[in-house]
Amino acid sequence: MTSLRPFAPRLLGVACLAVLVLGLSVVARTETKAPTPDEQLHELMIGLKRQLKEFGRAVADPAMNETSLAAVAEMQAIALAAKTLEPSNLDEKPKEERAAHKAAYRADMARMLSDLCQMEIAILEGRNADAQATLQGPLFDLRESSHEKYQKEEGEEHHERRR
Ligand code: HEM
Repeated sequence: MTSLRPFAPRLLGVACLAVLVLGLSVVARTETKAPTPDEQLHELMIGLKRQLKEFGRAVADPAMNETSLAAVAEMQAIALAAKTLEPSNLDEKPKEERAAHKAAYRADMARMLSDLCQMEIAILEGRNADAQATLQGPLFDLRESSHEKYQKEEGEEHHERRR
């Protein structure tokens, strides 16, 4: 029987190299995969929801103005970032409607930013009830209508979760 012993160091070397190459390619794949614009918008929206909850809990109480102001500032930053992206359902529109659809999306994001600024001003001027009214009226309405207009067509069940 022939022995593999003389080849053992070389085999070990080849095996180590293979493990190293495999490991590096896994690391490279996980580290370089940038989020797509759709994924970016999704993440921004998740952050928006979290900050909105925080704001909703704090807005009526002047003692919690620091919390309200921090949350509103985060939401403004999110709106600015989201404004540069595209509506998720752009591809579902006929080509000739896409430019108008993108413009409407950007205008609605700007409307959200404007509501958020009104809320910030109201808090800073000690008008907490006004900030709450803007949240529960115009901003909630805008969220509702925007999700109708710009989310991808999907089943009711999924749609229901997008609040
Ligand atoms: C306070 C206001 C808003 C909140 C709290 C909010 C929250 C959310 C949440 C939580 C989702 C993801 C839901 C899920 O996938 O389960 C979502 C998705 C989305 N929202 Fe909003 N939203 C708001 C306003 C807006 C506005 C003003 C627009 C457009 C002008 C908009 C456009 C979208 C789009 C296109 C998606 C689909 C993106 C995706 O999740 O893949 N949203 N939103």
